[in-house]
Amino acid sequence: MERHYKFNVVTKKISRLCCSKPIVTVNGKFPGPTIYAREDDTVLVKVLNHVDYNVSIHWHGVRQLRTGWADGPAYITQCPIQPGQVYTYNFTVTGQRGTLLWHAHILWLRATVHGAIVILPKIGVPYPFPDPHKEKLVILGEWWKSDVEAVLDEAVRSGLAPNVSDAHTINGHPGPISSCTQRGFRLSIKHGRTYLLRIINAALNDETFLKIAGHHFTVVEVDAAYVKPFKTDTILIAPGQTTNVLLTADQDPGKYLITVSPFMDSPIDVDNVTGTAILEYSGVPKSGGPTIITTPPPKNATPVAADFMNSLRSLNSGAYPARVPLEIDHSLFVTAGLGINACPTCPTKNRVVAYMNNVTFVMPEIALLQAHYYGIRGVFTDDFPVKPPTEYNYTGTPPKNLNTMKGTRLYRLNYNSTVQIILQDTSMIAPENHPIHLHGFNFFAVGRGLGNFNPEKDPKKFNLVDPVERNTVGVPSGGWTAIRFRADNPGVWFMHCHLEVHTTWGLKMAFVVDNGKGPDQSLLPPPTDLPKC
Ligand code: C2O
Repeated sequence: MERHYKFNVVTKKISRLCCSKPIVTVNGKFPGPTIYAREDDTVLVKVLNHVDYNVSIHWHGVRQLRTGWADGPAYITQCPIQPGQVYTYNFTVTGQRGTLLWHAHILWLRATVHGAIVILPKIGVPYPFPDPHKEKLVILGEWWKSDVEAVLDEAVRSGLAPNVSDAHTINGHPGPISSCTQRGFRLSIKHGRTYLLRIINAALNDETFLKIAGHHFTVVEVDAAYVKPFKTDTILIAPGQTTNVLLTADQDPGKYLITVSPFMDSPIDVDNVTGTAILEYSGVPKSGGPTIITTPPPKNATPVAADFMNSLRSLNSGAYPARVPLEIDHSLFVTAGLGINACPTCPTKNRVVAYMNNVTFVMPEIALLQAHYYGIRGVFTDDFPVKPPTEYNYTGTPPKNLNTMKGTRLYRLNYNSTVQIILQDTSMIAPENHPIHLHGFNFFAVGRGLGNFNPEKDPKKFNLVDPVERNTVGVPSGGWTAIRFRADNPGVWFMHCHLEVHTTWGLKMAFVVDNGKGPDQSLLPPPTDLPKC
């Protein structure tokens, strides 16, 4: 079945934290409209750009089998949709069901241009967990009092870190603020019922913990892949990730605090703001009764985070097997971190940069996918290094030289080859969390640990049976994560840190996957309305 949507990108004035400002939205909504589909449906979204910015939209986690032209990252798979232009994204959600998100993939527009993608199972196919009474969306975000693109501009101009946001939002609201009588977001439920919460982190720069006073969650799915259900009172969710949980309204009818707080275990992270909302049982008078509160985990609660991540396992059932690659064709060791390069125009004469294997990625001026498809030379090279240029104690004392190389360097994969990537955070400048997102694929997160990856010992502990399958994974601060995937999708696929500030600084690279020889193994031709640069 075909699903048609129209996205008018328009400016809208809205008020938060007691002041109003114009923001870029889709159809005047914040968060934006939800895309609903069923597994194997074709989705057509006509995007009309009515604002002064260039725009592109990414369907985060949609595999885009052979349809890289619809993936959306600006200058990677398409040139941006310019003011006044129209582009229709056309893709099929083949073999996928669950919660994903869409967001703008240019500048920092995704701060306000984002929304949910809900892919239901095919008709007649049940969830592999008890049917909920109702489903609810919980979309996390961040709010700046000033214009977000001005925050980005200022950071680029100064070469320094951008201002952190002024609030964490839940479904667009920072929480009850009485001074300007904003009620915040209320999640209303009925006693005795079970709800499926589709939780999405659309924040720009923070991994977050989510808690609801007095209640537990049963996690059933992450990044549109089912997991073995487990109970927890705290969810850890990074930007770009989605988590479906069952919540049973089994407490005394009343009001319960929902908290969204940053998880950051780096000494240089400064955000300390908690977003709040209220879980409200129906029948409880709006004004009456106290709200039962909960304390969010401290922002450096590494053990809480590790506990959550270690609990995630693929469902790996007969209907949903975990197809973990056991033989590896391409093995990469990729360091991710921050560095400092000279910047003559910056006040400090230096600029903060970020890298993978010491390469700070330079965005091209025409889309990489076009350059690949038409064989245009000089746009990228395919010599991304398989390991960092020099070995050092990545999580120990930082090296003296904090400079990085620049380049638009891709890594080439044969169709259907298998890939393992060890993602190693480094303490160059300071250790940091990096939620790494891979476009075009789901991968299996087969291992993680703190400190330096040990190539002798650590692979023996990999979970090759039921590792969690996802599209965005947190590399722990001062630690590593190992992922595996099969390159069965031809095209050019971005891989980057989903903390927008790190992407801006260059913590990104891309894979180019060649066409296969068989039928249905090559990239489809570009749509006729594909934007031009
Ligand atoms: Cu959700 Cu390349 O991003």
